[in-house]
Amino acid sequence: MPPCCRHLFDRFKGRDYWGEPGGVAQLWPRPLGDINKGCTCRGKSEGIESSSSEIVWGRQQGTPGSSSTSVAMKAARIALRNAGPLATTSHGLPSSGRATREVEHFARYSPSPLSIKQFLDFGSTNACERTSFSFLRHELPVRLANILKEIDLLPSPLLSTPSVQLVKSWYVQSLMELVEFHDKKSDDHKVLSDFIDAIIKVRNRHHDVVPTMAQGVLEYRDSSKMDPFINQNIQYFLDRFYMNRISIRMLINQHTLIFDNNNSIGNPRHIGCIDPCCDVVDLVHDAFQSAQMLCDQYYFASPELKLTQVNGKTAGQPIHIVYVPSHLFHMLFELFKNAMRATVEHQESKPSLDPVEVTVVLGKEDLSIKISDRGGGVPVRKIESLFSYTYSTAPKPVMDNNNTTPLAGFGYGLPISRLYAKYFHGDINLCSISGYGTDALIYLKALSTESIEKLPVFNKSACKHYQTPIEADDWCVPSKEPKNLSRQSAAA
Ligand SMILES: Nc1ncnc2c1ncn2[C@@H]1O[C@H](COP(=O)(O)OP(=O)(O)OP(=O)(O)O)[C@@H](O)[C@H]1O
Ligand SMILES: [Mg+2]
Repeated sequence: MPPCCRHLFDRFKGRDYWGEPGGVAQLWPRPLGDINKGCTCRGKSEGIESSSSEIVWGRQQGTPGSSSTSVAMKAARIALRNAGPLATTSHGLPSSGRATREVEHFARYSPSPLSIKQFLDFGSTNACERTSFSFLRHELPVRLANILKEIDLLPSPLLSTPSVQLVKSWYVQSLMELVEFHDKKSDDHKVLSDFIDAIIKVRNRHHDVVPTMAQGVLEYRDSSKMDPFINQNIQYFLDRFYMNRISIRMLINQHTLIFDNNNSIGNPRHIGCIDPCCDVVDLVHDAFQSAQMLCDQYYFASPELKLTQVNGKTAGQPIHIVYVPSHLFHMLFELFKNAMRATVEHQESKPSLDPVEVTVVLGKEDLSIKISDRGGGVPVRKIESLFSYTYSTAPKPVMDNNNTTPLAGFGYGLPISRLYAKYFHGDINLCSISGYGTDALIYLKALSTESIEKLPVFNKSACKHYQTPIEADDWCVPSKEPKNLSRQSAAA
């Protein structure tokens, strides 16, 4: 009997697939040691992970175009109409002069990336709510403003869709609410607790950003012709936009997990949402089981797991890294779903399914996880497009009233997983042998000092990217029709 959805949701409870870190930058406004001088308060080191699973938006709450999302979109449009002075104009500029000035002001700063080590240091030994508050009240508007400027560079038919305008109004509104804290005193407890309420409100407001932006792209695709240049720009933008969002949620989650006293205590080992001793093999088993349950639900069959682990740093010891477990879980879960779907569909006629083989290796610099399936592989020509948003070979998922979680079909699994890996300077690669199977490789930094946030910055290079058309190929492009050589030789 396939597991019911409730069962699945329960399994996902306690996971936040959308970001976490917390802590304070060494980089802004001055080195942490200096900021902490004279400050004696300590934040609690425990943290729980949020129970919301936003990346599962499509899976649990509706995909673009699904009925639940349409309802959300309708409500969102009404909200946009009522958004008042912070709503944006048809040119995409905030209509309020003050909002425009604030966006321009904060967009002049580059975001300050934090390393996992900095997040940890701050959350444990140096935890100080005042310092975090002082950092975040500047850094969050900076990250919001940087991406707002990039939203303005989208092609105008996309920028003017109601969905993108709505997303933009959320960003402007959040920025303005955070700016309110700029003149407030960091030693006032009321201010600190109001700030926590404000960032929770921001997080809630931005809850539907992913489906709403996806809806905007769909609206645009339906109404305009997509040329390769525009398509490339949209992919480039979405990567940066979603990465920015992961980072904003990370900052907000970390602050609330460490300093919000209303949070119930989670795993005492965790610092915010970071596990300083994350057991990679445990997570592999956990994610595999979750994907297996979905696979069983769809196909009434699923491959088994064959796991090999090699600790190349300390032979024979379990493999632990300092990481955000929910991020790694997300990557593993998505890659396992893909591997299982490919295996079951390719080996339909076989009496038993080949296992999915997983190799976990800890090296001096990298933690690498290879997921190998015998699912028939993908032709080389298609590999890069697999990472395009909305690319999927699965039928469009139907969201029924039971909110059944689909196994595939949104085309967001690979691109978002790769963003999670890249967020702390890791990566995901696919290496496929058409007719045989696929190896998906996750690379993460093994050292917490090298796991540093990778953040988009609004600057001249980014602008140029949106303006430079795809250059003509400097390699010959073969004609689709074979040339009739006999005619040429007759002419000679
Ligand atoms: N291991 C694999 N073997 C064969 N094809 C794969 C494999 N992994 C991914 N693909 C192909 O890449 C496509 C995109 O994968 P992706 O995970 O991004 O989206 P999806 O699985 O279709 O939907 P979802 O967003 O729900 O995961 C898949 O539809 C499938 O065609
Ligand atoms: Mg997938």
